[in-house]
Amino acid sequence: MKLPFALLAACLFAGAAVAQTPVEVFEKRIAPIFKSPNPSSCVQCHLAGVDLKDYILPDAEKTFRSLRDQGLIDLDAPEKSKIVKLIEMGTGDKKVNAVQAKMRLAEREAFVAWIAACAADPQLKAAPKLDAQDRAGPGRPVEVIRHGRKDQMLDSFEKNVWAWRFRCMNCHTEGTPQNDKYRKEFGDRVAWVKKGGAAATLDYLVASKLIDSAKPEQSLLLRKPLGEKHEGGLKFVVGDEAYKGFRNWIEDVAAIRSDKYAAAKDLPAIDAGPQKFGTDLWLKLTDCPPAWGDKFLQVGVYAWDAKLKKWDEAPIAVSDRVVFGKGKLWQHSLTLLAQKDSPRAKLWLAGKPSLPDGKYLLKAHVDAEGKLAKDWKAVLGEADYAGRVEFQAKWKEGYGSMTAVDASKVRK
Ligand code: HEC
Ligand code: HEC
Repeated sequence: MKLPFALLAACLFAGAAVAQTPVEVFEKRIAPIFKSPNPSSCVQCHLAGVDLKDYILPDAEKTFRSLRDQGLIDLDAPEKSKIVKLIEMGTGDKKVNAVQAKMRLAEREAFVAWIAACAADPQLKAAPKLDAQDRAGPGRPVEVIRHGRKDQMLDSFEKNVWAWRFRCMNCHTEGTPQNDKYRKEFGDRVAWVKKGGAAATLDYLVASKLIDSAKPEQSLLLRKPLGEKHEGGLKFVVGDEAYKGFRNWIEDVAAIRSDKYAAAKDLPAIDAGPQKFGTDLWLKLTDCPPAWGDKFLQVGVYAWDAKLKKWDEAPIAVSDRVVFGKGKLWQHSLTLLAQKDSPRAKLWLAGKPSLPDGKYLLKAHVDAEGKLAKDWKAVLGEADYAGRVEFQAKWKEGYGSMTAVDASKVRK
């Protein structure tokens, strides 16, 4: 007699199920997942908020009833169960290493085998419903689960960290000659800006020791650019825009990692500010007034609106740094700004962000009191306004082709 393959497979499967009761399969294959101190395969995408363990109870029968009553089990086709689909989500992802892939496969096979064993047990299938409060699932609401997903974190990472990477290039960008040189001297750790781009760098950083979850402000990712035993020297001062970006992002990652967000209201407010584009366009202010010496100076660059015949309300570029008092000089690269989904943002996302030739307005703010050092969240405002000046610019790229502005012409 010739059996069709599917039927043959079903017979073999049923045979295996008869050999092991649901409880046996559970104890041997599901309970170890529950008891393991390591996170499950979900961590590949969910940094926190949900784990496969959340769906498992210490008791085999209760776990079955809990999953069944939440519609997560398909008794007719165990491999089509929702819980199995959740496990399969990361299958085929190229970033996944062999250990993770093996773990995912083991989880999947364990659940399929156990669900099949349950399906072959009529008594268990007929067990009464489990009280809703006894069911097992993630302890966090969907908003929190969503916030802790790496793909959801990318937007904030791009705004807060990636936009400032020009300050850290090329020393830290994997695959550049400069980085190759440092790598030989200091090891692979210096290659933390990944050649795969923002998502790959995010992936690396969230799992790295560069972020201190218990004391975010002590993270190496902040201390190094602040100049603490850093071969790259001083790149930030406390409270500047890059520091604020890094700090905000690091605080968020630390809270996610330590599972501190319990409810939607605990999540950070959505940042409605413009998108930021780091560039190699440089601006320098020469002949700075003595009063600005060694103080933190913030610059906003405004474009001329030829149609409305007035300066734009919002800056098209910003930059900040401490004035070099002795040299009466301030210079730094510009970060360009554009509202999300605006024509300008689309243009800059598609190609290289740049500024057209023409006339511009510069507004300067100086932190004369050192308020940023006292409170990194402080914002320079009207009280710190140092004046404005109009200038012409061609915006050539590179440190050697800076646009120069005479700061002695700045007027309030
Ligand atoms: C490859 C990435 C990836 C992996 C691995 C992954 N998920 Fe997800 N998960 C997602 C994405 C993306 C969504 C949002 C899907 C959507 O909105 O349709 C999601 C949504 C969810 C949700 C719904 C929350 C909501 O937003 O409504 C739950 C619950 C969940 N996943 C649990 C898990 C569990 C449990 C695991 C591990 C067994 C897991 N996920 C593995 C990417 C992943
Ligand atoms: C001129 C080159 C240079 C620049 C620019 C530079 N760094 Fe570094 N950085 C290094 C070198 C070299 C090391 C390794 C030696 C050390 O720890 O100081 C390092 C180490 C680090 C480390 C420690 C890495 C680890 O895993 O131990 C961090 C974090 C870091 N830098 C952050 C930054 C940030 C953030 C920026 C930009 C805002 C930046 N650096 C700019 C050269 C640079």
